[in-house]
Amino acid sequence: MEKRKIAYSAIQPSGTFTLGNYYGALKNWVNLQKDFNCCFCVANLHAITVPQVASELRKRTFESYALLLATGIDPNESLVYVQSEVPAHSELTWLLNCCTYMGELSRMTQYKDKSQRQGKNIRVGLFDYPVLMAADILLYQANIVPVGADQKQHVELCRDIAERFNNTYGKTFTLPEPYFGVSGRKINSLQEPTKKMSKSDENQNSYISLLDNKDTIIRKFKRAVTDSEAIIQYDPENKPGVSNLIEIYSCATDKKIPEIESEFSNAGYGDFKLAVGENVAIQLETLQKKFHEYLSDKGELERLMKMNAQKAESIAYRTLSKARKRLGIIEIKK
Ligand code: TYM
Repeated sequence: MEKRKIAYSAIQPSGTFTLGNYYGALKNWVNLQKDFNCCFCVANLHAITVPQVASELRKRTFESYALLLATGIDPNESLVYVQSEVPAHSELTWLLNCCTYMGELSRMTQYKDKSQRQGKNIRVGLFDYPVLMAADILLYQANIVPVGADQKQHVELCRDIAERFNNTYGKTFTLPEPYFGVSGRKINSLQEPTKKMSKSDENQNSYISLLDNKDTIIRKFKRAVTDSEAIIQYDPENKPGVSNLIEIYSCATDKKIPEIESEFSNAGYGDFKLAVGENVAIQLETLQKKFHEYLSDKGELERLMKMNAQKAESIAYRTLSKARKRLGIIEIKK
């Protein structure tokens, strides 16, 4: 039998997850479990690249883990763990730092955006973040990395670093490819539909949190920015607001875009927005119920975290050890 390929991805436990995280990443993660050996990580070391309140970060790490399980990730089949529980991530980051160029990191658009928002005293961690992300992916010898469009550049950099390492020191890492779902690779803000929907947006009407209740979801969709044409047609360039809603409806119902356009060919924006809101709310209701069940049993969450971290550690350590040897780092048996 052919060996299954490996899918790896991660999410930061900062703020609540949005519909963008769900449709751009998590929903694909769940579907990939059928055909791939999957590794999913709550990336808490990534979260501290910007200032965090310790008690909040601890709480969100548990919540994020529970949310991953609630989406349908099976902790007995897939590897689902917390990044800081596997120290190999930090160590490989250092080894890869010594094979990464300043120029490469300076070109990352997410760094440019985030550092601009931070103003002064930008942390080295924020600059170095793509190298930590590369270490995550490479430790597990991933073939594909299911992410939203905003992470494509980071996955490409990871591939470049891996290729350089392999060419210089000998084959050590598998070269990964970014993977996108059919729809949802970029879910946009409901208020500024040419911008990515983001949990760090100050305007709460711009994003749907996975924990929003039905009334809030419907209200936010009702207020979504559209245009004055009253035609439900997919045209991201000229009709970004309506196209974003069509994309969201497609992710919520698994219907194709032409099918949606004909379903609503005689409808107005009000009816369409209500249909989008209702379908999203139905989907999230089931997810929220499971989330609260998982979160109410902290003992079980800790058991699953520990079991998965142990498995992750042994896989990660194998790759780390290989990389150390290639670089001439001695390993004395203790
Ligand atoms: P993060 O936590 O910002 O987002 C998690 C995933 O959600 C996707 N996403 C979106 N997709 C579509 N539309 C949107 N509006 C939207 N917003 C977010 C992101 O593309 C991502 O796939 N650095 C990563 C986490 C990470 C990682 C990794 C990912 C750490 N190590 C290794 C892959 C592999 C991040 O900050 O994602």
